[in-house]
Amino acid sequence: MNNPSPRSHLYRLLGVLLIGLLAFLGIRALATPANWDYDNWHRADAVDDVAALPLIYGGNESCQACHEEVIDDMAEYEHRTLSCESCHGPFADHIKDGEKFADAVVDESQWQCLNCHGELISRPKDFTQFTKELVEKVRRHQELKPEDPCVECHAPHDPRA
Ligand code: HEC
Ligand code: HEC
Ligand code: HEC
Ligand code: HEC
Repeated sequence: MNNPSPRSHLYRLLGVLLIGLLAFLGIRALATPANWDYDNWHRADAVDDVAALPLIYGGNESCQACHEEVIDDMAEYEHRTLSCESCHGPFADHIKDGEKFADAVVDESQWQCLNCHGELISRPKDFTQFTKELVEKVRRHQELKPEDPCVECHAPHDPRA
C-alpha cells in the first residue's frame, strides 16, 4: 500500500489558506473603488462629489456680501453666535445664481424664540430660558398672549433691546 506523505495534511491546509487569500484579494479588488486614496483612507473623488452638491445652507458668511450691516450689528449682541439660517431658513430658498429670487423666511411667532429659549430640563441651567420665574419677574410677560410676538419688544438681532 502506498502510504500518503506524512506532510499531506499540511499541503491541504496550505491549499485552503491560499484559496482563502486569493478569495480575499479578489473580493477586495472588486469592492475597492478605483480611486481609493490609501494615504488618507477615503475615496479620492468623494471630496469633489460632495463639493459638487448644490449648496443649501451657506452659513453666515454666505449672507455677508449683501447683509454685512446686519452681520456687523449682530456681532455686538447676545445672538452673535447664532446661524442666520436658523431663523431665516436656508440660503438656497432665498438666493439663486447670486441673486435674491424669493423672500427669506421671517417668522415672528413666539415659537421662533421658544424653539431655543423654551424651558426644557435638558437645557443647561445657565442658558436663558423662558421660565415661570422670568414671566413672574417681568410684568410685561405676565400680560403676554400666545399670539403676541416676542419681537414686539425684543429685537431679534439685539434681543436685550
Ligand atoms: C433669532 C432669530 C434671528 C436670527 C438669528 C437672525 N435674524 Fe434676521 N430677522 C429676524 C426677524 C424676526 C426679523 C424681522 C424683523 C423684526 O421683527 O425685527 C429679521 C429681519 C431681518 C432682515 C430684514 C430687516 C433688516 O433688519 O434689515 C434681514 C436682512 C435679516 N434679518 C438678516 C439676518 C442675517 C444676515 C442674520 C445673521 C447674521 C440674521 N438676520 C439673524 C430674526 C433673526
Ligand atoms: C446676493 C445678495 C443676497 C444674499 C447673498 C443674501 N440676501 Fe437676503 N436679501 C437680499 C435682498 C436684495 C433683499 C431685499 C432687500 C433687503 O431687505 O435688503 C434681502 C432680504 C432679506 C431678508 C428680509 C426678507 C426678504 O426676503 O425680503 C432676510 C431675512 C434676508 N434677506 C436674510 C438673508 C440671509 C439669512 C442670507 C444668508 C443665508 C441672505 N439673506 C443672503 C439679498 C441677499
Ligand atoms: C437658535 C437659537 C436661538 C433662537 C432662535 C433665539 N435665541 Fe435668544 N439666545 C440664544 C443664545 C445662544 C443666546 C446667548 C446665550 C444665553 O444668553 O444663554 C441668546 C440670548 C438671548 C437673550 C439675552 C439673554 C441674557 O440673559 O442675556 C435674549 C433676551 C434672547 N436671546 C431673546 C430671544 C428672542 C426674543 C428670540 C426670538 C426672536 C430668540 N432669543 C431666539 C439662542 C437663540
Ligand atoms: C410686551 C413686551 C415684551 C414681550 C412681548 C416679551 N418680552 Fe421678554 N422682556 C420684556 C421686558 C420689559 C424684559 C425685562 C428687560 C430687562 O430687564 O432689561 C424682558 C426680559 C426678557 C428676558 C430676559 C433678558 C435679560 O436681559 O435677562 C428674556 C430671555 C425674554 N424677555 C424673552 C422673551 C420671550 C422668549 C418672549 C416671547 C415668548 C418675550 N420675552 C416677550 C418685554 C417683553
